[in-house]
Amino acid sequence: MRKNIVAGNWKMNTTLPEGVKLAKEVNAALANATPKCDVIIAVPFTHLASINEVIDKSKLGLGAENCADHRSGAYTGEVSAPMVASTGATYVILGHSERRQYYGETSETLKEKVALAFESGLTPIFCIGEVLEERENGTYFDVVKAQIEDALFHLSAEDFSKIILAYEPVWAIGTGKTATDDQAQEMHSFIRNVIAEKYGKEVADNTSILYGGSCKPSNAKALFAKPDVDGGLIGGASLDAESFMGIVNAFE
Ligand code: PGA
Repeated sequence: MRKNIVAGNWKMNTTLPEGVKLAKEVNAALANATPKCDVIIAVPFTHLASINEVIDKSKLGLGAENCADHRSGAYTGEVSAPMVASTGATYVILGHSERRQYYGETSETLKEKVALAFESGLTPIFCIGEVLEERENGTYFDVVKAQIEDALFHLSAEDFSKIILAYEPVWAIGTGKTATDDQAQEMHSFIRNVIAEKYGKEVADNTSILYGGSCKPSNAKALFAKPDVDGGLIGGASLDAESFMGIVNAFE
């Protein structure tokens, strides 16, 4: 059966000492806890190796927020999937809307990234989601379906099964405007149907689909109570151990 997951996405926040401190706080909070979900933090590349040293990976998964679309070579400033894996990280966020919007990531580049992540044994947390205009003009189902089809539906069922999906309506990210739990459920159930049509019901039922976008302790419980919402990808609220743990503990 699919897993419940709460994953933090720190984005471009915290210096290395601040990040190590935050990771230690989350790790300490988990030490005596038995959360009803897997807990992951995705952190800046510069922090990965140091944080890997200070956390108990049996309780707290570690991931990067991106990786390059090439394995190695003359790509100044890029960080490859094998480099990420060599730090001890086992997850990588791919296709976040900020990467698509500000760094021109397309389904074509994302296909490469997914392949390279798999090659290095990393589990992709693959993000999809519509912008406000698409929500308002009613094309959001088509947009999200195309994002999944174009970047992932060339995969075998075996490989697709390794992916964690994160539905993040762009209009809800960092805006304080959360999708309602019904809006999230409606889209998550649609996504599960799209997967079922391609890979069958079993694969669809086993895929974890996280919700992201202004998720916080106060709304997490209602969101996670929906049958097709399997957890959250958390930006702002993951930068404080207490609020992050408040979301983790929303699973009862
Ligand atoms: P937010 O970000 O929780 O700050 O809205 C979520 C995300 O972008 O992953």
